[in-house]
Amino acid sequence: MSKQEHGFFSHKTLEKNVGLLIILSVVVISFAGLAQIVPLFFQHSTTTPTEGVLPYEPLNLIGRDIYIREGCVSCHSQQIRMLSSEVQRYGPYSLAGESQYDHPFLWGSKRTGPDLARVGQRYSDDWHRIHLRNPRDVVKESNMPSYPWLQHNSVANENIQDRMSVLRTLGVPYTDEQIAKAPEQLKGKTEEDALVTYLQGLGVAGRAAAAKAVSEGGL
Ligand code: HEC
Repeated sequence: MSKQEHGFFSHKTLEKNVGLLIILSVVVISFAGLAQIVPLFFQHSTTTPTEGVLPYEPLNLIGRDIYIREGCVSCHSQQIRMLSSEVQRYGPYSLAGESQYDHPFLWGSKRTGPDLARVGQRYSDDWHRIHLRNPRDVVKESNMPSYPWLQHNSVANENIQDRMSVLRTLGVPYTDEQIAKAPEQLKGKTEEDALVTYLQGLGVAGRAAAAKAVSEGGL
């Protein structure tokens, strides 16, 4: 039997040497990852807010923080995918620019409940209040937990100015005036008011631009 010669970088060397195989696999995957990820930092559609989308108003921002605190994201995604079944059910698919001011974004991946990316204006404020206090009062078979305490907690003393300043360091363009006036908006408001205001704003501002993208994309 003739012996076949192998160079150092032959498959044989790699397959017999687990350490080298792991290291080189990581190198290859990293390059592939970079080729996909790096362009996203420079693309217009991922670096600029969708038309109509503005930084959260102070009350919406507090509502968003309550949404995070209560773990709503563990049952609800906020990302409508580019599938016609999703678009038919939830509305125009989500655009990257709609999450421009979300730090962190709440796209989520778990859908025990429906996607909420465009739930804004779908129901009345009263519907949301009843639903948050006891979901079974409006959807008999719901297994969503009740959040009855939100209506009793005030948000007037929240550190809203600190939160807005931190977001400004992350690139959200809040003006000094907006930050100065923020506590005013929270006066007399409860956690429930804040959460309902946040929910009612979800997906509303970017809806027109997203609908245009859907019609141009042929879905
Ligand atoms: C254990 C999982 C679970 C958690 C946690 C949860 N939900 Fe739900 N949610 C559901 C399910 C299931 C439904 C569908 C039935 C219903 O409408 O109650 C739902 C429905 C909803 C709807 C109506 C959506 C639609 O399009 O009809 C809203 C709004 C909502 N949830 C908001 C919230 C908010 C806000 C929180 C956090 C305070 C939260 N959910 C936490 C499971 C959950």
